[in-house]
Amino acid sequence: MSPFLPAQPAGRFRLKVWQDISPDLNTALPLTPQLMGNRPEAFTDTMRMLNEQFGYEDFNINIGCPSSPVVRHTRGCGLMPHPDRVEAIVKEITSKTNFRLSLKMRLGLHSPDEGRELLHRLDNYPLDFLVIHPRLGDDLYEGTPHWDLFEEFHKRTTHTIVYSGDIFSVEDYQRLSERFPDVAGWMLGRGLLRNPFLAEEIKGMPTSDRISRFKAFHHDLVTELLPIRGESGTLANLKELWHYYADFIQMPDEELQEMLRINDLANFLQATESIAK
Ligand SMILES: Cc1cc2nc3c(=O)[nH]c(=O)nc-3n(C[C@H](O)[C@H](O)[C@H](O)COP(=O)(O)O)c2cc1C
Repeated sequence: MSPFLPAQPAGRFRLKVWQDISPDLNTALPLTPQLMGNRPEAFTDTMRMLNEQFGYEDFNINIGCPSSPVVRHTRGCGLMPHPDRVEAIVKEITSKTNFRLSLKMRLGLHSPDEGRELLHRLDNYPLDFLVIHPRLGDDLYEGTPHWDLFEEFHKRTTHTIVYSGDIFSVEDYQRLSERFPDVAGWMLGRGLLRNPFLAEEIKGMPTSDRISRFKAFHHDLVTELLPIRGESGTLANLKELWHYYADFIQMPDEELQEMLRINDLANFLQATESIAK
């Protein structure tokens, strides 16, 4: 699934935003574009445009992002206390297009009652699946997910459920998949950034040559980011990612902080080269 991209009304598409999801740049895995917004027509306009431009036929809607600028504009998790608005979006898409649709949600913004109401409403619409990250928006990423509420939500809906949240190790995955055997899919987020081999480990695949494969991956990442983001954009993206990669190569925090102070891409890359030897 792509990171969230803005649902925009026809005539206001900013093509640069869509470069990331060009099928030419996403050949390794099937990609589902994820959209965020709050106007029903903006979703259908954007979906039609992405279908015409790139051939995409399935889409995900983000009603889970808890970041305050997003929530303040009644987007992402900010929509969860407004079931009428979410329903209007889902109704517009499912009644006016033939695209496959899924949603990514939390338990609610302030209360699980918001999620309960939404699940009830969404039962009436043909959705591919619901991804549930079992925290409230108010929790941000703190504490542990509310697994008991996840269990309750799973029972309440007729929709297929995908789980997202705090899978950082093979043991986490095993524990959760034993507890929730009916979950149809497992979404990895920060765990996969902290350990890029986590999916292979969960699948029981051999993960030898980890550092050399990580370096090759990092090299490819930089090569592909540069033409899209330019030097300063690439540096900004890498700095964000290195908060997680530092965990993978067990870089002490002082070294990470020093590296994050570098303001020039070439020097930053040199620092990553010498560290991951
Ligand atoms: C920096 C950051 C950016 C995120 N961006 C998105 C996003 O664009 N779309 C989305 O559905 N979830 C996004 N998430 C949420 C994750 O998909 C996931 O639901 C959440 O982090 C919990 O799962 P995890 O513990 O496996 O990371 C983001 C999370 C973080 C920390």
